[in-house]
Amino acid sequence: MLKGRGLGLPALPHTIRQLLFAPLPDAHVPVKIHGWVKSVRRQKNVAFAVVSDGSHDKGIQAVFPNASQARSLTNGTSVRLEGRLLASPGKGQDKELRVDSVEVLGRSDPEKYPIQKKELTVEYLREHCHLRPRTDAVASMLWLRHIVSNSIRGFFENNGFCYVHTPIITANDCEGAGETFRIAPDSTLAPVHSGDAAPKPSEFFGHPAYLTVSSQLHLEALAASISRVYTLSPCFRAERSQTNRHLAEFWMLEAEWAFTQTVHDVCNVVEAAIKQVLDDAADKSEGSNPWSERAAKLQAEIATRDWPRITYANAVEELASFQQATRAFHFEPAWGLPLQSEHERWLAENLAKGPVFVTDYPAELKPFYMRLNDDGKTVACFDLLMPGLGELVGGSLREEREDHLSNAMRKHGLQTDQYDWYLDLRRYGSAPHGGFGLGFERLISWVGGIENIRECIAMPRWAGRMLL
Ligand code: 4AD
Repeated sequence: MLKGRGLGLPALPHTIRQLLFAPLPDAHVPVKIHGWVKSVRRQKNVAFAVVSDGSHDKGIQAVFPNASQARSLTNGTSVRLEGRLLASPGKGQDKELRVDSVEVLGRSDPEKYPIQKKELTVEYLREHCHLRPRTDAVASMLWLRHIVSNSIRGFFENNGFCYVHTPIITANDCEGAGETFRIAPDSTLAPVHSGDAAPKPSEFFGHPAYLTVSSQLHLEALAASISRVYTLSPCFRAERSQTNRHLAEFWMLEAEWAFTQTVHDVCNVVEAAIKQVLDDAADKSEGSNPWSERAAKLQAEIATRDWPRITYANAVEELASFQQATRAFHFEPAWGLPLQSEHERWLAENLAKGPVFVTDYPAELKPFYMRLNDDGKTVACFDLLMPGLGELVGGSLREEREDHLSNAMRKHGLQTDQYDWYLDLRRYGSAPHGGFGLGFERLISWVGGIENIRECIAMPRWAGRMLL
């Protein structure tokens, strides 16, 4: 997946990964590498530096036959090194660069550089989020995002889905949960045309506009044309939750497809997609990486079996009887109440001992668009709960019957005229359909074993925090 093979375009210098994975060139062939110094070790006559361009988690060891060549190198310095690539006698590396010449591209003051070799806390690094991509942990997380996105793309490609792009600025609150960021009337996003009087920002669209909380409604419009669609897109929620699984800006994988009949079919697609991600993250054919061990372990433990499904009603029964016996929960579990994260964790960790789909929640607990079951009380939906994380995915069959949908909108206190376009999808050739949304950072956290999703995105935003 992280291609090392082949040396790529002549217009681009080789990356360290490309050089490490290519066959060893003849000892007299000069090679150039570019990167940043991660560490320097000086001995009497010789010096060693680890140089990384981020393309390979370990970087490359550069050997300076004359220690004075490394005189001006400090952590963080950017360099161009020319030398010869040789088989390395050192442990844990096949190749090293024997340096002939050093060019310092950018100095880094060792007294001031905030990203020193010593152990840095996640809190400290969040304060320096423009520099923290230079740490090994954040760099490898960025590659994990890359691998997982490619894996997802491959999965949907193989299953006949079209990758589509949906709007970020929207007119509706898809989830109806009141967590939308409104684009403020005095927003500087309002254009000023030279020569024209600046339009009053509040008149820009002629009505309120929001940042999207989910692409689902727009995806439904596209699935009503080309049947199977998906997107990986930023979503924005003005959530005040200060937890390790909530961000104000996060990425969501969402898929929507027509002609699906049961909520279990939707669960099957989700399960297969996540198993594919584990396979790809565990793949060591392009060299090991910091997360492949964990992905392989998860793969062995859970990807080889079918993930259980339990209805909300049964889940509440299990929770209630455990509560009766132990009084372990802070929140009392009862039919009609939302599952709290302590309940979700218990279901995955203790009851299922692995991922578990909880299906058929009461209609009042879920958004208006979910398909009402024949019992008239519950909807054909699911949450996928993961051990150590809680909810990773939410999905459902969508209500395809116009009368049921407008009833549900009214019950949820929504004005049907604002969703007229969405109702149109039910008026003209409505088809049974369904889909899901998966929190991308939560997936990265789970696959990568990264405790907080603030470390699963380069520049996190959460209530009270947006540095750059
Ligand atoms: O369950 P949610 O709210 O579902 C929807 O938005 C649907 N419209 C999606 C769909 O069916 N197309 O969100 C889906 C997932 C959650 O399970 C969670 O993983 C993630 O999005 N998520 C968040 N991730 C990080 N920070 C937040 N504030 C999140 N809110 C939801």
